[in-house]
Amino acid sequence: MNSKPRIAVIIGSTRPTRFADAPAQWILKQAQARGDMDPELIDLRDHPLPFFDEMASNLWMPSQNPEAVRWQETVGRFDGYIFVVAEYNHSITAALKNALDQAYKEWNRKPFTAIGYGSTGATRAVEHLRGIGVELQMVSTHAAVHIAGGDFRAIHPAFGNKPISEIEANLLPTAKTALDELVWWARATMAAKAA
Ligand SMILES: Cc1cc2nc3c(=O)[nH]c(=O)nc-3n(C[C@H](O)[C@H](O)[C@H](O)COP(=O)(O)O)c2cc1C
Repeated sequence: MNSKPRIAVIIGSTRPTRFADAPAQWILKQAQARGDMDPELIDLRDHPLPFFDEMASNLWMPSQNPEAVRWQETVGRFDGYIFVVAEYNHSITAALKNALDQAYKEWNRKPFTAIGYGSTGATRAVEHLRGIGVELQMVSTHAAVHIAGGDFRAIHPAFGNKPISEIEANLLPTAKTALDELVWWARATMAAKAA
């Protein structure tokens, strides 16, 4: 068994002027620096999925759309996930929800954490994500990184436009906890599956 979990950092916003790249690159750097996981950036822009149009979830029958099948293969390569979560009207983006719906078996019995950003740090969106994760038979970490309030305004291009390094001292303790938990659950679920 590969002792280092393979972790996908999944960018949940696809719009051309998205802010998502800053938190995505930051959490990728934190994950890479640890040495206890193999993180990889996965951009939903590289997976032009249709709105879900299959006969059923791939729990019940194989998907027909080649992009859906390619996405399922991508999801299946990983032992756990870090979702980069924008909050759109108190939930996750439609693009991320659709991507979650486009696989089933590949998410099962795997952990995830999140880095959310917005006025409240995407807390409401991350809570929705956790509920969706239950149905996908995933396990959520207790901790997640939330870039909120003044920190969010300081680094968002529409406001302060400062580099994320300016506020990272506020993020590092929670990021460490969230990533510690992610690795713990990834190792636990990998070992259970191997047994
Ligand atoms: C359709 C839409 C809905 C939004 N709803 C919320 C919201 O409910 N809460 C919040 O804090 N920010 C909200 N925002 C502001 C986003 O936090 C902000 O635009 C952020 O940059 C979105 O992430 P992105 O740029 O990576 O797509 C919303 C933005 C959009 C475009």
